[in-house]
Amino acid sequence: MRHIVNAQQFSVEFMEELFNRARYYKGRPKMLVANPLALPNLVGRLVLKLFYEPSTRTRLSFEAAAHWLGMGVVSTENAAEFSSAAKGETIEDTIRVVAGYGFSVVVMRHKEEGAAQQAAKLDVVPIINAGDGSGQHPTQALLDLFTIYERCGRLDNLQVLIGGDLARGRTVRSLAYLLGKYPGNQLTFLAPEPLQIGPDILDYLARHKIGCERITAVGQAPWTKADVVYWTRLQIERPLPNGKTLSPEQVEELKPAYTLTPAHLARMKTGAVLMHPLPRVGEIATTVDADPRAAYFAQAHNGLYVRMALLEHVCGLW
Ligand code: NCD
Repeated sequence: MRHIVNAQQFSVEFMEELFNRARYYKGRPKMLVANPLALPNLVGRLVLKLFYEPSTRTRLSFEAAAHWLGMGVVSTENAAEFSSAAKGETIEDTIRVVAGYGFSVVVMRHKEEGAAQQAAKLDVVPIINAGDGSGQHPTQALLDLFTIYERCGRLDNLQVLIGGDLARGRTVRSLAYLLGKYPGNQLTFLAPEPLQIGPDILDYLARHKIGCERITAVGQAPWTKADVVYWTRLQIERPLPNGKTLSPEQVEELKPAYTLTPAHLARMKTGAVLMHPLPRVGEIATTVDADPRAAYFAQAHNGLYVRMALLEHVCGLW
């Protein structure tokens, strides 16, 4: 049974094949009535979307991906409130139950770190981790990498500046694991101290001989050198690790320094790319959107193709 739980599990060869499949889908026309992308081996098979946390892109792109492949979708949004989780049912019991309803894949988002791993461990139905608390978001990291390749033409020897809430942002954690698989990448983590990237990521990068540094001042960032600038929002809905806290006043103080404007882009290279997993909540000024380096909407759109390829894989088609 194939599960997608974390970013460490992917090999470079796997990602190459995944991106080939995603590129294939991206190059094909989509039509609303007769679906030309439906795969005979997937038509009629069912995806369950089990979402215990809010989502727009991940939820809707998985749903659209299933549709374009000819699969059916059953879903529960806000499962924390509208599933038996509200009555105290464990993830394990929920997964054991839904495994008996004939789903080919369960796409799951949960507020607890490790929830997808717990579900996958049962090995009763293929699980895709669509985000587990402050843990990981492996499918987002794959579409991020796909976008970097599309824009930069390579995945190695990149200068990558990652800024924002790195302590609680799961997308940057998964992305760091993936960038660590390619030689010569240099990562700069830019965040105020309480929001800095965790030591587990730094250990992993050191083991993979990836150069990285942590900086706190926006002014110190290597704007002119970066090939990729990856920005994130403050995840105020999540607790900080190790009991650290950030008062509302501190948050307000941080905002201006961490808001990207055309002045920041003026310092970036012509061929650089500016990414964000979205949603943005003010940390990238809308005046930046017209800049050709601003890739966040194209990045979100790539999620459809990457998730089509992932559904195919989990269903055993490649
Ligand atoms: C991200 C997430 O859910 O972790 N959103 C997404 O899936 N694109 C980022 C975020 O919520 O900040």
